[in-house]
Amino acid sequence: MRVVGRMAAETLILVGEKIRAGMTTEDLDRIVVEDTLRRGAKCAPLNYHGYPKSVCTSVNEVVCHGIPTPKQVLRDGDIINVDVTTIYRGYHGDTSATFYIGKPSPDAIKVTEVARKCLDLGVAEVREGARLGDIGAAIQEYAESNGCSVVRAFVGHGIGKKFHDEPKVSHVGKRGTGLRLRAGMIFTIEPMINIGGYEVEILDDDWTAITRDGSLSAQFEHTVLVTRDGCELLTKRDAPLKNSEGMASLFL
Ligand code: MF3
Ligand code: CO
Ligand code: CO
Repeated sequence: MRVVGRMAAETLILVGEKIRAGMTTEDLDRIVVEDTLRRGAKCAPLNYHGYPKSVCTSVNEVVCHGIPTPKQVLRDGDIINVDVTTIYRGYHGDTSATFYIGKPSPDAIKVTEVARKCLDLGVAEVREGARLGDIGAAIQEYAESNGCSVVRAFVGHGIGKKFHDEPKVSHVGKRGTGLRLRAGMIFTIEPMINIGGYEVEILDDDWTAITRDGSLSAQFEHTVLVTRDGCELLTKRDAPLKNSEGMASLFL
């Protein structure tokens, strides 16, 4: 799980180095496929419950599961979550980030930076003995007190030999409730944060989830190993993400 987590993280770093206005989401799919195969690994999304591509690319009001297409050109001011899931020797590593294309609007910066902080705050709750509700509560409190909402319809998940396993990791909750964490558990935390309401709709392609009110949505995801005194981020990056990390201050 450490090896595949690092692979997924490195592929996401590569996406950050290449992503820019004028590219299509299909171009991102190609970058992820090439880099993943070069590592002797596979892209988990391809054919997963019929999903047609190798990565999820979710632009602006798309909450998650956006499907890459040569028709979708990235434009200045867009935000896009790229969600990479790698399989290596049967194990899965799952990580995503939201990137800025060109100069983002104040709302785009707000929802993206709130989502980034929500993942960090969720991760900070993880240690043996903590409860799943502690993670959801930390995320929900921060998002809602900053004028954003937390998507309910999609959750984090146990991960290992299966892409999506138990437990379900809600990004809302109450402290002191839910499953008690034990060292050795591995799951994702992947809050989807909207600048408007939390409701989502699924498009006719049966995958693309959008905000019901058309508001912007952002997401970050790590695969996390619970330890006795905290956690290990299996998809930790040792280089900052270009076009995402450290960008907000440039525009504020
Ligand atoms: N990577 C997504 C997650 O974080 C799941 C994508 S499923 C797919 O759980 F089929 F759309 F790829
Ligand atoms: Co996931
Ligand atoms: Co994912």
